[in-house]
Amino acid sequence: MKKLTSIIAAALALSLLAGCSPSSNKPSDGTDTESKNDTVAVTTAAPVETAPVTDAVTEPPAPSSPTTLRDAYDGIFYIGVALPGSLIGNAKFNGVITDNFNSITCENETKPDFVLDAAASRAGLPDTYTSPRFNFAQAKKAADYAVKNNMKMRLHPLVWHSQTPAWFFTEDYTDGGALVSRDVMLARMESYIKTVLEYFKDNYPGLIYAVDVVNEAFDTGVGDANGIRMQDNRWYDTVGPDYVYYAFKYAREYAAEDMKLFYNDYACMWKTDLMLNNLAQIKEEGLIDGIGMQSHLAATDSVTQFLRAAEKFCGAGYELQLTELDVGVKSDSESEFKTQGKFYGDLMSGLIKLIKKGANITSVTVWGISDGNTWRAGEYPLLFNADLSPKPAYEQFLAASPLVTE
Ligand code: GLA
Repeated sequence: MKKLTSIIAAALALSLLAGCSPSSNKPSDGTDTESKNDTVAVTTAAPVETAPVTDAVTEPPAPSSPTTLRDAYDGIFYIGVALPGSLIGNAKFNGVITDNFNSITCENETKPDFVLDAAASRAGLPDTYTSPRFNFAQAKKAADYAVKNNMKMRLHPLVWHSQTPAWFFTEDYTDGGALVSRDVMLARMESYIKTVLEYFKDNYPGLIYAVDVVNEAFDTGVGDANGIRMQDNRWYDTVGPDYVYYAFKYAREYAAEDMKLFYNDYACMWKTDLMLNNLAQIKEEGLIDGIGMQSHLAATDSVTQFLRAAEKFCGAGYELQLTELDVGVKSDSESEFKTQGKFYGDLMSGLIKLIKKGANITSVTVWGISDGNTWRAGEYPLLFNADLSPKPAYEQFLAASPLVTE
């Protein structure tokens, strides 16, 4: 409905610009002036009748209200979507993706599990002992898609306890081998970060605007005395608690200047101080640019509390991005979707208010395209239904933009 109204408004504006009607392009004296230049047409036209047309031509067209997320947030922040490899280039999804988003994140294809090549790393030993081998075939598909569609990309993630192969941490690159020493693992970390960043820097200059250097390192429930994750964390087991520091140190060394370096985490509104405290030294040394709030939320969460955390991160001098936004509800009923729509709308309006107060919020990425393609199946957390029709969440997300005027 809204889309229709905007199309009508745009059409009206265009017809105004063109001079109201096809006949208004013709001189009013009825002579055929097709072969005459503009000067002749003006001097020979009857002044009384041409005056309104001239007014219409000089008047700027009425601005039409944006009807897609990409247009609605143009110049405010990037609007991103996480995509699995299977959807990239899929004709069914293509229009919705390219209409609405100007940033993508690979759901998996840039994770260590996907880019590290076990067979080649093992086959190359001992040469590969501190410099493993890579395979960027799947990441390349996503990067090419982004370039082709004039989109940017978030690179997610370099150093993470999860989705990183066990063999990467062992002496012989086997799953069950003994863990390597701190020094060897730091050398492997440097090699990993250097290779991935240089791959994108060399092959896709300007594509990556944000890098999740470290993902999910802080959690008091599974962490050491400082809340650095110990559980199931081979980075901690090999390097120790300062693995976060070294990851940022190497990332800064090898990243292009336009690749902003981010720390990315879940449940940020409940561990704001924990994150700020653990990142303080890294920030002090200029090794980090921003914080990514994953934002896997529920419609029963408090938007106010979320925004308070966002404001605190920005106030501490960080650039801020919402990197994995999805908002779960109990069912796909009309009332749940209404509540969810309000949540998305309130969240976006709140972010806009923070930006007006000076907060440096530069990207909002939803973690998936539709409720049929989400890791939270049964929670209906995204902006589009499985059939790709827009949900109230989409409408409210759009309507919260200050560029949307109707
Ligand atoms: C975390 C990770 C994401 C993704 C989600 C679950 O938030 O950062 O890459 O794996 O979990 O899908």
